[in-house]
Amino acid sequence: MYRIVERRMIVPNLHEFTVEAPQVTMAVRPGNFVILRSDETGERVPLSVADWDPEAGTVTSIFLQVGGSTAKLARLKAGDSIPTYAGPLGKEAEISNFGTVLCIGGCYGIGSVFPVARALHEAGNTVYTLLEARSQYLLYWQEKFRPISSRVIELTRDGSAGYKGHISRLPEILTLEKIKPDRIIVNGCTFLMMRTSGVTKELGVKTIVNMNPIMIDGTGMCGVCRLTVAGKTKFACVDGPDFDGHEVDWEEFLKRRETYNVEEVQPLRRSGCASHY
Ligand code: FES
Repeated sequence: MYRIVERRMIVPNLHEFTVEAPQVTMAVRPGNFVILRSDETGERVPLSVADWDPEAGTVTSIFLQVGGSTAKLARLKAGDSIPTYAGPLGKEAEISNFGTVLCIGGCYGIGSVFPVARALHEAGNTVYTLLEARSQYLLYWQEKFRPISSRVIELTRDGSAGYKGHISRLPEILTLEKIKPDRIIVNGCTFLMMRTSGVTKELGVKTIVNMNPIMIDGTGMCGVCRLTVAGKTKFACVDGPDFDGHEVDWEEFLKRRETYNVEEVQPLRRSGCASHY
């Protein structure tokens, strides 16, 4: 069993989740993920690693409470235990001295892009961070990004913090901030990664996305996480989760991602805790 050190809602619907898993901290690298189950009958949930503490033997992830399985996770509290916590899984993010790198995070991707940004900073890159959300109250971890970033830029759809609008404003923001990225890394929901990739393709800047498909085993056995990249079938769990955003077949990915929407949302309806769906 794996003991939960902390589970707290840091902004509405987003939870910081820290688990005691010393064996994971010994091998984890930026870009890795873990697969866990909240109980013996629970579905396997992949979560990107957002931080870790080798001394304490703890691993932290950020998850969005969006369906039945994550609602179960959101009910856990410090001191509870979970039966499954497997990892680290996936290929580590490519870390090198690229020059100037813009790291973009939205939603749970603010958490998962953090260790990548930190490693890029340590590798000698000039790192800029752009945090994206619907509104200011959905932004978090700015204080963690500031020491490793030349600048932390905020973009909110309602303009309550930083620039107002969507990621489609990125070319203009780069001009205003005088940033010429050699590489862009985007972590977050599918739409953020897809739209960013669309914009950066026109800019000609290599863009790495952190894919978030449905997964089961996480070791390349079941094929559930497959996607098409540069016309070839890839498994996100073993070939990724990082891929070149300009090469991903986004339309196919979106369709596959929606496969279990009904099953995920129905249990919440029955429980009455998702009346807004
Ligand atoms: Fe089964 Fe990737 S999750 S092959």
